[in-house]
Amino acid sequence: MGKKITLSVIKADVGSYVGHSNVYPALLEKARGMVSGSPLLIDSYVTHVGDDINLIMTHEFERNNGEIHQLAWDTFLACTEVAKKLKLYGAGQDLLSDAFSGNIKGLGPGVAEMTIEERRSEPIIVFMADKTEPGAWNLPLYKIFADPFNTSGLVIDPSMHEGFLFEVRDLIENKKVTFSAPEEIYDLLVFIGTRGRYCIKSIFHKQTGEIAAISSTQKLNLLAGRYVGKDDPVLIVRCQSGMPAVGEALEPFANPQLVSGWMRGSHCGPLMPVSVEQSTPTRFDGPPRVIALGFQLCEGKLIGPQDFFKDVAFDQARQTANFIANYMRSQGPFEPHRLPENEMEYTTMPQVIKKLKDRFEKVR
Ligand code: F6R
Ligand code: MG
Ligand code: MG
Repeated sequence: MGKKITLSVIKADVGSYVGHSNVYPALLEKARGMVSGSPLLIDSYVTHVGDDINLIMTHEFERNNGEIHQLAWDTFLACTEVAKKLKLYGAGQDLLSDAFSGNIKGLGPGVAEMTIEERRSEPIIVFMADKTEPGAWNLPLYKIFADPFNTSGLVIDPSMHEGFLFEVRDLIENKKVTFSAPEEIYDLLVFIGTRGRYCIKSIFHKQTGEIAAISSTQKLNLLAGRYVGKDDPVLIVRCQSGMPAVGEALEPFANPQLVSGWMRGSHCGPLMPVSVEQSTPTRFDGPPRVIALGFQLCEGKLIGPQDFFKDVAFDQARQTANFIANYMRSQGPFEPHRLPENEMEYTTMPQVIKKLKDRFEKVR
């Protein structure tokens, strides 16, 4: 066992090009300059998925450390300045508050942090998605940590056979509950199938109590009971030696699931696994993308990354996603391609109802 280190993944969209598609290189350079020189960090890696900047950082502080969150906030502010100068699209859009007060949570950026004692070898995967929401991790996390058809280790590895604990958050009432898998999988599924409300926050190894996965799930961005923006989510998964193998963690993404997000955060479409290079939503601002970067941790150093979804083994998944995208698009403004009213980020319903209010007649 090594010393305790914390892995913090903090992300924000602070301006993109062209439209909501990509992060301009000058912003990534700015972010790299800000974090790579920081004496607070052991190591860092800056990347992007679609229009989101992702800061992957290691350090010896605990989670929710004010200085680390400040560093991320200052980095996003500095990137916003660059974005404003270049008139990039939506400059500063995820920095919802002008004032930082010690914790970045709830201010716009997404956060996933885990404190671990490094094992003899510590393989981890950071999943990052664009044009979707935190509930998008529910299905893959269930498969990785509770489905024996996905993860053979649950059946044949004695160090995984007891299963995992799932902490689920109710994003609307801001409550949490923990389920034990496999005994309680039916109860667990009752909740996590409702992805817009119940999200898997973290997963623990039952035998050792160790953290196995953590997502950026946080309180919903609600204003007057309506969505004001979906939070493109991130997820950290520890792999191997009693945790799911790397290939078991990647496996669910081979079959693109339907997620909420896509155009105007108001449509349902397939989550397409792609390389960092291919993570630039185009068609109908999508389809939603997910990238997976693998690292070996070494005393907090990030050895890597390996861009997993670059592999040809995911070519078929991309084709399937394109096929599904085509089919879903053919439904135009009809549900279930268009999300139900209460899950849409954009709606003209109140204005249209107001305009037509005198034309509605009571049916007797
Ligand atoms: C979805 C997203 C885009 C925008 C769309 C309209 O998360 O970011 O699909 O919603 O491009 O953007 P505005 O309203 O900025 O013109
Ligand atoms: Mg954007
Ligand atoms: Mg985004």
